Amino acid sequence: MRVGIVGGTGEIGEGMAMRLSWIMDVCVGSRDPGKAQETCDTCLISAKERGIDCSVRSGNNQDVVRESDVIILAIPFKHLKSTVEGISGWEGKIVISPVNPMERRECFVYTPPAEGSAALFLQNILPKTTRICTAFNNIAGNRWRDISSELEYSVPVCGDDAEAKQIVMDLVNQISSLKAYDAGPLSSSHIVESITPLLLNIARFNKMKDVGIRFV
Ligand SMILES: NC(=O)c1ccc[n+]([C@@H]2O[C@H](COP(=O)([O-])OP(=O)(O)OC[C@H]3O[C@@H](n4cnc5c(N)ncnc54)[C@H](OP(=O)(O)O)[C@@H]3O)[C@@H](O)[C@H]2O)c1
Repeated sequence: MRVGIVGGTGEIGEGMAMRLSWIMDVCVGSRDPGKAQETCDTCLISAKERGIDCSVRSGNNQDVVRESDVIILAIPFKHLKSTVEGISGWEGKIVISPVNPMERRECFVYTPPAEGSAALFLQNILPKTTRICTAFNNIAGNRWRDISSELEYSVPVCGDDAEAKQIVMDLVNQISSLKAYDAGPLSSSHIVESITPLLLNIARFNKMKDVGIRFV
């Protein structure tokens, strides 16, 4: 199984690329393949330092979708529509949305689109056969990139396709110490997405850093 990361050069994308490329085949995507290659080089160096294998290749975002079975959309909400509509070949693919629509006002505020969540927005713009799941919404980019630390977080996963959801949960459970939890249908994604502005407000008002969630 190959996992592709559209926007794999970004704040969460790069850390995801590193940690995933140590355990499975990864394709890092960007609008600029040269930038994607830089992220691949970072993955290869991180693996070499740890003395472990690494399987990573670069491409543009279209290459990532064509060559991958599971695609993570590591893109800000405001660029989601143009990015998704500029790429073909989504049919039958498993698509993971870590996307949280939000704004920073006097504090962080969840600002979902009319559909109710980024995940349901995606469902409207992707072909009907695309198997969308929500996951990885509540882990800070800094934590992904801090590769010397374990990720000891819970990861709620939403989706309507039972087989795709199981594949995504199995994927989550292979990364560091992450633990996946079934968080219901795709229509529940707004609950998961809206946790992130809460985490950011807690971090800000309590002078904490990179707050995450763990269900016990
Ligand atoms: N940052 C976090 O801590 C965090 C935590 C949980 C969830 N998330 C969610 O994860 C997603 C990615 O967040 P991020 O912070 O990683 O984002 P980011 O670093 O701001 O951007 C990610 C990538 O998006 C691409 N991009 C930027 N502008 C674009 C445009 N105009 N059109 C198309 N692509 C563009 C860039 O890739 P190229 O320039 O290489 O094309 C960039 O590297 C967001 O939806 C966010 O809500 C973030």
